[in-house]
Amino acid sequence: MSEEDFSLVILSKVDPERPLPTDIYLKVDNKFIKFKSKGDPIGADKYELFIAKGVKNIYITSDEIMTFLDWINSSSSDEETTFVDEFGEESRGFFKRSKDFKEKVYEIYFEDELNEEIVENLQTNVSDFVSQIKENPITSQAIALMLNKNSTVADHSVNVANLSVYLGMALGHGHQFVLENLYMGAIFHDYGKLKIDPKVLENQGNRLYSQAVQDHPVAGVKMLRKTQGIPTQVLTIIQQHHEQFNGHGFPKGIGGDDIYELAQIVSIANIFDNTLSENKQLPSHERYKRAVKVIEFDNGKMWNPKYIDRVIEALTLAFHVRKKAA
Ligand SMILES: [Fe+2]
Repeated sequence: MSEEDFSLVILSKVDPERPLPTDIYLKVDNKFIKFKSKGDPIGADKYELFIAKGVKNIYITSDEIMTFLDWINSSSSDEETTFVDEFGEESRGFFKRSKDFKEKVYEIYFEDELNEEIVENLQTNVSDFVSQIKENPITSQAIALMLNKNSTVADHSVNVANLSVYLGMALGHGHQFVLENLYMGAIFHDYGKLKIDPKVLENQGNRLYSQAVQDHPVAGVKMLRKTQGIPTQVLTIIQQHHEQFNGHGFPKGIGGDDIYELAQIVSIANIFDNTLSENKQLPSHERYKRAVKVIEFDNGKMWNPKYIDRVIEALTLAFHVRKKAA
């Protein structure tokens, strides 16, 4: 069968848990290969893998495409929610507005070695970006909703989001579209913890604690996947923010380049902020020093070493660590 015999469907429109109404195909090296048969679900595992690998589309034979589209539309059932359901009336139209917003590209500093002047520019760009994204109702309402449910998780998420954007920019990302996904992924990275009783989260000795921690990335994805319009990149960040470069993370134990770069950035920012909160008793300069050290001495355990030198440079300059530490 040739190209004209197939119609493309965006993968993120498909619910991976529902049995498919038709066969579906993947395009591999310009050939269409049957991937799943009518009656089978895609399966959450495969779905996550596709997202991680950047597979965005599936294909349906043109004579069955209407059946397939009807099936997708019928899945907008009671279960599925929208941003408006989740975050209130003001968020209606967010995605329309954010389309123009995504056109913007910040200055990209990837080739240059970082110095104080570049870091100052980056920090200005971060605050410009953050003040814009905070004007979006979806962001402010997501934060408000999280604050309402668990202020510790909400504060942490905002810190991680701001730091992730700074690190993302320092690593050479300047496109609004990428930065927005990075920011939203970081804001929502612990969303799955919101369903857990804060008392369980605060007490590591609680018998439910480790299971709750283990489950929260997948729980977060499940909660938000039903919210139409959350980009797959954001879900991937949530899913993978505890995966480790050496493959010893969770929930899947994937490693190396199978981990999405933006998820690695959020993971670094997450550990940085956790180290700061765990050392509240120290003077702030010491806390920053310690948090930078945790990242510096990772040695390819949690994070891809190819990001680390640049990240350390960026953190050192932003928090003035080395100067006083020397
Ligand atoms: Fe987490």
